[in-house]
Order: sequence, then structure tokens, then C-alpha cells
Amino acid sequence: MKARKIGEGIYWMGAVDWDRRLFDSLIPLPDGTSYNAYLIQGSEKTVLVDTVDPSMVDVLLFQLENVQDIDYIIAHHAEQDHSGAIPHVLEKYGDAKVLTTPKGKGMLVDLLLIPEERFVTVEDGETLSLGNKTLKFIHTPWVHWPETMVTYLREDHILITCDFFGSHLATTDLYVTDEARVYEAAKRYYAEIMMPFRKVIQKNLEKIAEHEIGLIAPSHGPIYDRPPFIIDAYRDWVSEDPKNIVVVPYASMHGSTQKMVEYLVSALAERGVTVHQFDLSVTDIGKLAIALVDAATIVIGTPTVHVGPHPLVFYAAHLANALRPKLKFASIIGSYGWSSRAIEQIAGLIPNLQVEILNPVLCRGFPREADFQALDSLAATIAEKHKEHNLA
Ligand code: FEO
Repeated sequence: MKARKIGEGIYWMGAVDWDRRLFDSLIPLPDGTSYNAYLIQGSEKTVLVDTVDPSMVDVLLFQLENVQDIDYIIAHHAEQDHSGAIPHVLEKYGDAKVLTTPKGKGMLVDLLLIPEERFVTVEDGETLSLGNKTLKFIHTPWVHWPETMVTYLREDHILITCDFFGSHLATTDLYVTDEARVYEAAKRYYAEIMMPFRKVIQKNLEKIAEHEIGLIAPSHGPIYDRPPFIIDAYRDWVSEDPKNIVVVPYASMHGSTQKMVEYLVSALAERGVTVHQFDLSVTDIGKLAIALVDAATIVIGTPTVHVGPHPLVFYAAHLANALRPKLKFASIIGSYGWSSRAIEQIAGLIPNLQVEILNPVLCRGFPREADFQALDSLAATIAEKHKEHNLA
């Protein structure tokens, strides 16, 4: 795709990766992604903001074919899907410098072996004049690495944010046209990548709020020409209050745990609680992460394998612990054949979750009447706890 103009002397560049289906050998990309770079030509200086994944460097070099000079390559973030093509751009533009945060410099030296003399570092709030345009660099750490920053184009009211506000979405739409579709993609992105840093992001949102913003231009997915759409969504996601939602990730080998899950889900629904049920043997972990953004309670369902939880449950519990959602309550249900230490082992996997553990329900073999009563009791407790916390 060719470069596309988004303002006077400001161009979208980059590559749309329609077919990529996995990121970091971990994160599903059902809708592909894009690596957005931006070229800003001022009256005196020209900058390239971020680059592309190294697998698509040819696309960026083609877009830069008629660009004679670049003074700075701004590196908002050292991760290779944005920085990976920097060495190629530095080779093409021998006088260009990489402009980044002090932490970003160290990481780019380590990750891409760029010589130290090719760097200029900027402190939080520092500005750079391109002649008729002024760039302000705002440090926004932990979205989602420690070195991250964003750039505000003062005269044009454009905020270029790299991963912050991004969405893994391959599209020819330069701007958001389908808000519902972008909302889901951006929430998936937040859930998988940003959620562990929720509290820092709250501060970063306040930091950017003092600027008049007409466009938010991220490095994944379309540009936001209605910035409140994504800023308000982020405010909701990072807020302290969960919603009246229970997430039930589970595995079942012979149907006993499945029966318990189905019974509990029905009992919760009868009590007005929204439930998201995930059979981990077929679950897209991005969908599970999205559900965890707003949930107040997680109930993990597991059969017993060699005395402990099913390996898929280990994985899901580890993931939930790493993502640090704003859960308030947790419980465990499941079945065993002769003995089980599943409860202790799962509880040990989620130390980061600041949750109250509600009475687990474990049964020997297939659930019987007493087990269903215990599940009813668990559902009643969850509904009551949610009411006590005024969760809507
Ligand atoms: Fe899109 Fe953290 O890289």
C-alpha cells in the first residue's frame, strides 16, 4: 500500500499484515494486524515515527523511495514490530538519528545492536521543532514496556501513540469506520497486552487528557478521528469497578466437571449474573482475556489429572494471574476420581489476584444432589457478593 496523507505534511506509512495469525508465539490475531509508521515533513526537518515489523521492511522502504532526507526516526517503543526496520532506515539515511527515551535507547541497543552514537534521547515533555511543526514527547511508561512514550503534534492536534490505543486489525480503512468492530479488537488488544499495567495507564490517560486531540494515530489498526470513542473505552477498562460478570474457564475429560459448570452457569444466570463460559480445549485465549477485563468473579472448573488440575487449567490460571484483571472473587469447582490437590494448586497459581476465595465445590466422580446444592449455594453467594458491591 502507498503512503496516505492524514494532514498537511503528515502521512500514514506502514504495512497491513492480513495473514498474520499469531503474535509473540502466543496471542491469536483473528483479524491480522498492521504496523503503522508516520512521516512528518516540517519546513526544516523531517521525521519518521516508528517503523514496521522486519518481515515487512520492503513495504516501508518502497514508501520512502522518494523521501530524500530523514533527520530523526522516533522510536516510541523498542519492540521489534515497530523498531525492527530501524536499522534498514538508518542504513538508507546515513545522517538520521534515532530519537527515543533514555530507557528506549538502552533497549534498542540491546535488541537491534544499533550503535550508541546514532541516538538522541528525550525527557518527558521535551519538544522538537521541525520548523512549522512542534513535536512534544510524552513519556507514557508501561504501555506495555517500561520505555514507551507518545508524540503530540502541537499545531495539528494529532497524538501518535504506538501500541497505546492500538488494535490488531488488518483493514484498508485509514480511519475507524466500524466502531463496534474496532471496539472489540481494541479491547482484545488492551486485555492481552495492557491490562497488567492498568494502574499506570490510568495515570497516562490523565497525562494526555490535558492536550487538545483531534486524531489518535496508533501503530496497530485504524486511526481514531473521534478520539473520545477510544479514550472513554480505556477509562472504562482501567477503572477500579468490575461489572456483574462471572468468567468460567474450565476443562472436562469425561463430562463431570462440564455438568457442574453448566449447572452453576444456569444457577448464576437465574440470579441475574452475566456469565462467560469457556471450554479451554477450544477457547481463543483472546476472548477469555476480553471477558476478564470487566469480570468481578472467576470460577475455574477442572477435572483431576495426576492429583492436580488439568494442564489447560494450569495455563488459564497462570494467564489470569499474569493479566491481573480487577477480579474481586474466585472459586474452583470440579471433579476427581480418588484424591485431589487441585484447589491448593490452583490457589497457588493466582497470587497476583487480590481476590476473596469463595467456597470451592469438588465432587468425587459424577455430581450428585448434594453437589448441585453446593453449586446453588456458590451461585447464591456470588450473586449476593456482587449485590453488596453494587455491581451493575
Ligand atoms: Fe506493537 Fe509492543 O509492540
